[in-house]
Amino acid sequence: MALSRNSRWRLRQTHLLHTLYLLVLLSLAGIVLIWYGVNTDREHLYPLLTQLIPAGHCACLTSTTFQCASCLTCAQMDLLPQTALPPARPWEFEHERDGGNGGLNRAQCTAAFPGLFEEISRAGTFWKSNGGLEVEELNQIPLKHGMARVFIRRGELYVVKALSRGEDHRRKILSVLSAIHRALITDPDRVLQHDVEFVFSVEDKVTDVTTTDQPIWTFARSANEQAVWLMPDFGYWAWENVHNSIGPYDQVVDHIKRTDIPWSQKKRQLVWRGKPSFAPKLRRALMDAARGQPWGDVKHVDWNQRTNVMSLESHCQYMFIAHVEGRSYSASLKYRQACNSVVVAHKLQYIQHHHYLLVSEGPNQNYVEVERDFSDLAAKVESLLDDPTRAERIANNSVQTFRDRYLTKAAEACYWRMLFEGYSDVWNGSVPTESQSQQPQGRGLRYESFVLLESRLMVEFDATSTIGLMDHT
Ligand SMILES: *[C@@H]1O[C@H](CO)[C@@H](O)[C@H](O)[C@H]1NC(C)=O
Ligand SMILES: *[C@@H]1O[C@H](CO)[C@@H](O)[C@H](O)[C@H]1NC(C)=O
Repeated sequence: MALSRNSRWRLRQTHLLHTLYLLVLLSLAGIVLIWYGVNTDREHLYPLLTQLIPAGHCACLTSTTFQCASCLTCAQMDLLPQTALPPARPWEFEHERDGGNGGLNRAQCTAAFPGLFEEISRAGTFWKSNGGLEVEELNQIPLKHGMARVFIRRGELYVVKALSRGEDHRRKILSVLSAIHRALITDPDRVLQHDVEFVFSVEDKVTDVTTTDQPIWTFARSANEQAVWLMPDFGYWAWENVHNSIGPYDQVVDHIKRTDIPWSQKKRQLVWRGKPSFAPKLRRALMDAARGQPWGDVKHVDWNQRTNVMSLESHCQYMFIAHVEGRSYSASLKYRQACNSVVVAHKLQYIQHHHYLLVSEGPNQNYVEVERDFSDLAAKVESLLDDPTRAERIANNSVQTFRDRYLTKAAEACYWRMLFEGYSDVWNGSVPTESQSQQPQGRGLRYESFVLLESRLMVEFDATSTIGLMDHT
């Protein structure tokens, strides 16, 4: 009797164990499937799997719809008090003459680029209502790889600390420093500006390096990350990837202008090339929405086999260019905006400094906005194919607004200088220059010297540590 109860118990035990094995096996299979769905770059994915894959490497659940469609025009209104200037003949921005001029003065900057500085006043308002900023606050930010701490004193740029993990960080940090330096040296009044000190990050997301309540300078933010200050991304200086060299933005634009074809000769299609695995949910939705459509030319790129790779200027041969966010913002938007084509973007979650100028409807419309699941893509593209004049007007507006105005070198330098100014308005404190350690150069190394350091010494640079300096003698 006892034996049989025992064996029955054992039987139940094996049964339980088997169920457990099965459960573990099933969850493993599930995990593998989802991992595969997120990471594969295969063209087709079983529809159920596309449903299953989470938002992927990005949290694409919300979206930033700009309530700012009137920015271009409303900001112009703000500028009316400008009539206080000599009424004679107001200076006007002329793209051919001024676009490459990083040395516009403040009045010229505000006259030329209404609406460009919205983000700076937003961050300024935020920090004013939060009691301003001081050195203490910067000291509380733990510096991680991909970040640098710098200051501007009497118009000169100094590097206190710069941390890179690998070449990508190092190059992006150098690009940011160089862009800041360029914006400074093209300003004749730089010595008169207030000194400021700040921390910037070249990572895609604020949360890659810090919490969202820190006053760091970044390339992009989501709507609720209100403490950060947006700066123009590294690509304006130059995008020099280890694997591909894109070059300075204005050089790309020059090249595209020379090779762009007339609107009437463009392919009546929507083009996109990219890696689905950077943002599987979004990118797969685009691929699914365009698949089999006569107007769709959407393909995934395989960098290893170099299949479907397409140059930036070849994108311009299409009337429509799709834009999809990646892990975070996508630095490609400005290259797509360099073509005389219609940019089609889903509702964006990440904001860059020039996004306020995107207009999705009305006479100033300069891009086409679709839902994040691309459910209205077909309807919107088809209606524009039926009305090519409207499509051409959107492309014209895009070029006039972005390529030939707000994305020029002139606009970039104006933005940087307004950023220094906006930040200095809430910066309470001087910038201490002497370090305790009696370094001849104080607590920061001048930009001019920093760029001459050997690469390996830039990677984990700390101006206050003697080791770094002894090392390079
Ligand atoms: C677009 O711009 C081109 C070149 O400036 C011009 O010839 C064309 O008429 C414009 N098209 C529309 C629809 O505004
Ligand atoms: C700056 O900080 C000091 C003390 O930390 C304070 O007394 C002063 O009011 C602040 N000034 C501004 C403009 O916020």
